[in-house]
Amino acid sequence: MLIYRLLLVGILSRGLSLSQVLEESTEQRHSRSVVNMDELLKVEDDLAGNLEKYKEQLSHRAETIRWGIHQMKEMLRKRKSFWNNPFITYSLIRHMQADWLMWQEYLKKPVGLEQLIFMQSRNLSMPREHDFMDAADGVTRMQGTYQLLASDIANGLLDRVQYNSSLAAIDCLELGRDMIQQNYLPSAEQWILAGIEAYDRPVPQMEMQLLRGPKKADLYNILGQVRAELENYVGAFQAYQMALKESPHDLKIYQEYQAFEKGLLTSPEKRPDTFKQDEEDEAYVREQLPNCCSGRCEVPQKLRKLYCLYNRVTSPFLRLAPIKTEILSIEPFVVILHDMVSKKEGALIRSSSKKHLLPSAIASVDAPKEEYQVASSRTSKSVSFPNDFNNATLKISERLEEATGLDMFHTEYFQITNYGLGGFFETHIDTLLSNETRFNGTRDRIATALFYLNDVPQGGGTHFPKLNLTVFPKAGSVLFWYNLDFKGNDVMNTLHTGCPVIVGSKWVISKWISDMGQELKRPCIESISNVKYLNSAKKLLI
Ligand SMILES: *[C@@H]1O[C@H](CO)[C@@H](O)[C@H](O)[C@H]1NC(C)=O
Ligand SMILES: *[C@@H]1O[C@H](CO)[C@@H](O)[C@H](O)[C@H]1NC(C)=O
Ligand SMILES: *[C@@H]1O[C@H](CO)[C@@H](O)[C@H](O)[C@H]1NC(C)=O
Ligand SMILES: *[C@@H]1O[C@H](CO)[C@@H](O)[C@H](O)[C@H]1NC(C)=O
Ligand SMILES: *[C@@H]1O[C@H](CO)[C@@H](O)[C@H](O)[C@H]1NC(C)=O
Ligand SMILES: *[C@@H]1O[C@H](CO)[C@@H](O)[C@H](O)[C@H]1NC(C)=O
Repeated sequence: MLIYRLLLVGILSRGLSLSQVLEESTEQRHSRSVVNMDELLKVEDDLAGNLEKYKEQLSHRAETIRWGIHQMKEMLRKRKSFWNNPFITYSLIRHMQADWLMWQEYLKKPVGLEQLIFMQSRNLSMPREHDFMDAADGVTRMQGTYQLLASDIANGLLDRVQYNSSLAAIDCLELGRDMIQQNYLPSAEQWILAGIEAYDRPVPQMEMQLLRGPKKADLYNILGQVRAELENYVGAFQAYQMALKESPHDLKIYQEYQAFEKGLLTSPEKRPDTFKQDEEDEAYVREQLPNCCSGRCEVPQKLRKLYCLYNRVTSPFLRLAPIKTEILSIEPFVVILHDMVSKKEGALIRSSSKKHLLPSAIASVDAPKEEYQVASSRTSKSVSFPNDFNNATLKISERLEEATGLDMFHTEYFQITNYGLGGFFETHIDTLLSNETRFNGTRDRIATALFYLNDVPQGGGTHFPKLNLTVFPKAGSVLFWYNLDFKGNDVMNTLHTGCPVIVGSKWVISKWISDMGQELKRPCIESISNVKYLNSAKKLLI
């Protein structure tokens, strides 16, 4: 049971030791949320400006030197023709005695020290290696979940939508390298091929490409290595040949090619098949990802003929302003409540969270520090607010109480979450206890309300794998379901996944409603069929 609860294994992401995580947990983790991208862009802007200053200083210096050379050449010409003129003799001696000393001083003076110091001062706000790994994980997760081809992503085609952007060869190569490091060799091969393809596409060259490659031959060379590991010797052979064709004089590539050929000739079938294992690992990873996040799976018959209604009964106020309620499933009971958060409230909640967001943890945020661990099964940033945090949270908790008839005094804090690049929440159920230990003094989560604060252009649905149901975020609506049945047992069909975001920044608020305190609102009963709830929205929402 434990595996489905908040204790989740991070299959997709590399394990970080606890101490590493604690050190890194604060603030950073850039790819886990896109709300702080504006800060990164600001840093990037400052750094580019700084480099520009360096360029200006360099060209100023070049200008000075050019002027100096010009002057000296002029003088030299004069001096050669009038060398016996006393003025010339005197000034030549003065010049050679003093001016060249000045030039020595001038050349010794470093250019760009100030700019170097500026760059170093921005060290702390820069993405680090784990940020790159997070970002690469985000892309891979997106790729796996929505079954995207590396070359499509590189060409800006994401789940049937074509974007006017693409990845450069170096971006693809680094993803390929990352896959190699994680031993996902077939994926690595796809990314390197995408990189080779991207090489011929006119994209702006990043400065690192100009400084350190990759050359096309490097890409082919790595392709050869990967294919050799995959025991695709013919493919590897072709890749090495292409590498040599691109860079015929590259000694390193030549030597590697020779070694490969020699190894192949001496013991073709004795090569250790250490990498067989990895293909299986990769299949395992793929399996763990939800299949129907795209929302294109077949919805079961019984969910298809459900309906919408206006709830006017769970609170007297609703007679005036009924809540549009869309029934998605009866068992388990899942509904969408429409127009629950106004634009203004959503904006207020987002803006007041922004500064406080921290990488989401596996244990609850108020757990002791030792248990706080940046989750790899849940890549997002979040913050918790009490119901009365501000006018907007007060208002939405009132409205949720009206819509559900449950007592908002007995709930956990609002948890505001933002998902970034490929951000997701692995398949889980929301309850904390087991059937046996429930109702024994510790509260559990009878129901969950998931507020969507914005539309997400692509991806980021909430998926119920047991129901084949995928609900896509719609600004202002709330997805609500009961985690416990009428007897207080887990409803395993409420297993759900926060699907990876493809494009956009996904803002949600989770509200977990406690079982303790709701006894009068939603009493335990023998069987769901005892309630003629379908006739009445009132009973429907107890
Ligand atoms: C930060 O600056 C120092 C020099 O002060 C440098 O050695 C280091 O590599 C820089 N980068 C990071 C990520 O710390
Ligand atoms: C795509 O982007 C390029 C440069 O960023 C721009 O010149 C071009 O007009 C864009 N095309 C479309 C269809 O938006
Ligand atoms: C869910 O969708 C998949 C693929 O469309 C289908 O094979 C499966 O039968 C569906 N499951 C249910 C419970 O409808
Ligand atoms: C919150 O609402 C109260 C009463 O509705 C109002 O007086 C107050 O100014 C509001 N506060 C903010 C920050 O909007
Ligand atoms: C429930 O609580 C009682 C008293 O605290 C304890 O004796 C009992 O073992 C608990 N039952 C379970 C299943 O934890
Ligand atoms: C709890 O009880 C429900 C209903 O009897 C059952 O479906 C569920 O699997 C049980 N949970 C566990 C963890 O055994």
